[in-house]
Amino acid sequence: MDTMIGVIGGSGLYEIDGLEGADWVTIETPWGDPSDQIMTGVLDGVKMAFLPRHGRGHVHSPTTVPYRANIHALKSLGVTDIVSVSACGSFREDMAPGDFVILDQFIDRTVAREKSFFGTGCVAHVSLAHPICERLAGACLTAAQEAGVTVHKGGTYLCMEGPQFSTLAESKLYREVWGCDVIGMTNMPEAKLAREAEIDYASVAMITDYDSWHPHHGEVDISEIIATLGANSENARNLIAKLPKLLGATRDTCPHGCDTALDFAIMTVPE
Ligand code: ADE
Repeated sequence: MDTMIGVIGGSGLYEIDGLEGADWVTIETPWGDPSDQIMTGVLDGVKMAFLPRHGRGHVHSPTTVPYRANIHALKSLGVTDIVSVSACGSFREDMAPGDFVILDQFIDRTVAREKSFFGTGCVAHVSLAHPICERLAGACLTAAQEAGVTVHKGGTYLCMEGPQFSTLAESKLYREVWGCDVIGMTNMPEAKLAREAEIDYASVAMITDYDSWHPHHGEVDISEIIATLGANSENARNLIAKLPKLLGATRDTCPHGCDTALDFAIMTVPE
C-alpha cells in the first residue's frame, strides 16, 4: 500500500515547505468543511497532505476545530499516517519550553466536541488503550533527533477544553495527582477519530510554557507562548522533512492494528 503522510499543523505551523507539485485542495465531507484547504504534494517520493488545524489565519478555536471533517478529509485523500503537531504546556521541570515530546497517552477532559463517527444506525467501540501508533511515534522520535531537537520519548497529554488556560488548582491536580506530563487543547478527539478512521496516529507536542504550576515561571500567558512558537515551528518543519525517508513510499499493515481497528469494533448487525 502507498504511504500518505498527513500532517495536522497546530498553532504556529500553517504550511510546510518543499512539496513537489504542491496544491491546496478543497475537500467536502459529510461532517462539514475541514479547518481549511489541504496542501497535497510529494516529498522525497512520498505522498503528503498538510492541514492547518486552526485554519490559515487561525480562525478555529480548539473547541470549534471541525475534528470529524478534518479526519474524514484526510482519509478521503488516502492518508495512512497522521502526524499531529501541536503546542502544549509542561508539567515537568525537565520538559522545558522549546523541547518536543512524542506522546504515548492521553487523558481527555474535553466536554464540548463531537467525538465519534458512530452513533445512531451504526455503533462501534474501538480500542483506545494504546491511542498512539508505536511505529509512527518511533519515526517521529528519530526524525526529531535527526533534526537536532531536544525530544522526550513518551508522555501523557491532558487535553482540556479551553480556550481559557487552567486554574492553579487544576494545574496542580493534573501534575501532582494525575501524573500528566503536558497539557494542550487539541489532540482529543482527534486521536480517537483517527483510530475510528483506521489511520495510524502519532503526536508531536511542542512545549511553549510551564502552564501555571511552576513557582518560578508565574502564570501562562499567550505572549510567552507566541514567543516560543517561532523556534518550535522551525524545528517542526525540520522534523517533518525527515519523515518521508524514515517511513518510505509504501507500507505494510500496521503491526499494532491501528489500520484494522474496526475489524472487531462494530456492534450493529448488518441488515
Ligand atoms: N497550549 C500551549 N500551552 C498550553 C497550556 N499551558 N495549557 C493548554 N494548552 C496549551
